[in-house]
Amino acid sequence: MTKNTTTWRPRVATAVVMTVFILFWYKIASWLPPKNSNSDSKHLNGSSSSVMISVPIETVMSGEPVQLGQDDSRVSKFIWDHGYLQPASKLGYNLTSGDKDPSMGQGQMIRKIFKNMTGGFFVECGGLDGETRSNTLFLEKELGWKGLLVEADPKNYALLMQKQRKAWASNSCLATKPYPHKVVFQQDFNTGRIKDDSSKLVPKRKKKMEETLVQCFPIYSLLSALSVTTVDYFSLDVEGAEMEVLATIPFDKVFIKTLSVEFNHVGVGKDALRKVMEDKGYVIVGQVKHSRNWANDFIFVHNSLHQLIAAAAEEEQ
Ligand SMILES: *[C@@H]1O[C@H](CO)[C@@H](O)[C@H](O)[C@H]1NC(C)=O
Ligand SMILES: *[C@@H]1O[C@H](CO)[C@@H](O)[C@H](O)[C@H]1NC(C)=O
Ligand SMILES: *[C@@H]1O[C@H](CO)[C@@H](O)[C@H](O)[C@H]1NC(C)=O
Repeated sequence: MTKNTTTWRPRVATAVVMTVFILFWYKIASWLPPKNSNSDSKHLNGSSSSVMISVPIETVMSGEPVQLGQDDSRVSKFIWDHGYLQPASKLGYNLTSGDKDPSMGQGQMIRKIFKNMTGGFFVECGGLDGETRSNTLFLEKELGWKGLLVEADPKNYALLMQKQRKAWASNSCLATKPYPHKVVFQQDFNTGRIKDDSSKLVPKRKKKMEETLVQCFPIYSLLSALSVTTVDYFSLDVEGAEMEVLATIPFDKVFIKTLSVEFNHVGVGKDALRKVMEDKGYVIVGQVKHSRNWANDFIFVHNSLHQLIAAAAEEEQ
């Protein structure tokens, strides 16, 4: 008899503890934020409930189940920890062409607007191989600008790294949502792009594309990690996701003086792009076109920068 009580008592106790625990867990589970929430600006923050939830940072970087703020320090830390920002090369340039400005005209347009200003800061996305039709190589090499090159395709990025550019480089894609997420990227040298973006007018691919999963960061996350709050020139040509990328930018937190934006692949059309940018406070000071469709860019300048707008219109001496 004594022996029996000593064996069943702990079992009852265990069962009671388990029941209480399970009930408690259900209660906790109902406090947790819903999975697959589409809210754009939800922050992972313990203060909204008394329960700390723990989700691996790698999972959060895919955009689910919670989204971190663009300038959340955990995003910056992830960017640095995982090598998503590589410093400028200290070696000499390793370029294949002697072309001072391989751009289709954007480089000279920006030089003119800034009246040969030295030491500016640019962002170029896609960075491609860092040389072919680069809009920023001239500014960097001839005028000593610093900057950030963002290239999603790992193959292009490997080529870019060989050029020994004097700018930060990131093998990532610019987010089309205001938080880090991942996309399937179709690799195709200069026309690689995010699969299934909103650019519905872009014809379906005929050939089979190589695809790779790529980590995206909002442009503001990369700039926050670098503590950059002013960008003199932002070159945006991402084969269709331009509008979505622009929509992520908190223009009140980062001052972008000028932009060139490729409009040919913008699904909603160039007039919608113009309208959106006008609403953000920009004016179009020119267009860069190329007969073989290698460029179809609007050049935007912030409407507060009267000298830059005037310089864009001036004849060069
Ligand atoms: C996160 O929590 C802190 C206090 O712990 C609070 O000051 C802050 O406003 C919260 N942020 C958000 C986005 O809820
Ligand atoms: C600016 O640079 C261009 C070419 O790099 C040169 O032709 C021009 O004379 C320069 N202008 C001034 C005002 O220095
Ligand atoms: C320079 O570029 C070529 C390709 O254009 C490459 O084969 C070579 O390895 C590069 N050199 C360095 C030091 O990266």
